[in-house]
Amino acid sequence: MTRGQFITFEGGEGAGKSTQLKLLAEALDHAGMEVVTTREPGGSKGAETIRALLVTGEVDRWDAQTEALLHTAARRDHLAKTVWPALERGTWVICDRFADSTLAYQGYGHGLAKDFITGLTRLAIGDFAPDLTLILDLPVEEGLKRAGGRGGAEDRYERMGMAFHERLRQGFLDIARQDPDRCAVIDATADVDAVHQAILKVVKGRLLGFCVP
Ligand code: TMP
Repeated sequence: MTRGQFITFEGGEGAGKSTQLKLLAEALDHAGMEVVTTREPGGSKGAETIRALLVTGEVDRWDAQTEALLHTAARRDHLAKTVWPALERGTWVICDRFADSTLAYQGYGHGLAKDFITGLTRLAIGDFAPDLTLILDLPVEEGLKRAGGRGGAEDRYERMGMAFHERLRQGFLDIARQDPDRCAVIDATADVDAVHQAILKVVKGRLLGFCVP
């Protein structure tokens, strides 16, 4: 049995990840492929419990190290309970955020050292990594405007200020530059269908050899 492919979506607030993830999953499903969609923090019972601690409440609720540890603990549970079993069954897994978010938000955003975060990730999940990471990029102001329009209680990160969000946008672009074989930057300012077509093109091009529509 061939192991499934692991695709992650990354980007700042309001970049359209959830919409694009759904469209990609539908396209793959339409082509007869087994696909599961999931998210971080979350995606398993334990990780969803940790998520509630991270995305609600006061901005300064956690210090940066504790926050990175919580995200990493949630990631370990999510992989063990949801992602790894699916990949082993040959199912493709598409995940809304993954370890690049920890480097972008807790590293570039909160200022934790890159070595601290990469060390923590390695300790928790070894050298497991996505087969493809799609980084949806758009100006911070536009993203926060879109995200603010969604409302809801899960807005702890949205309240972290423009400078924080600028740093993590640059962080995602740095990550893409440093790992171009795994990452593709997608211009998320275009309309939903144009972004979807750009994503399909990358998936077909990068994961060649797999039956992609
Ligand atoms: P979401 O809004 O995309 O569902 O993600 C929840 C928030 O968690 C989002 O604002 C980014 C943040 N986050 C981190 O700060 N570090 C991480 O490792 C992950 C996965 C998410």
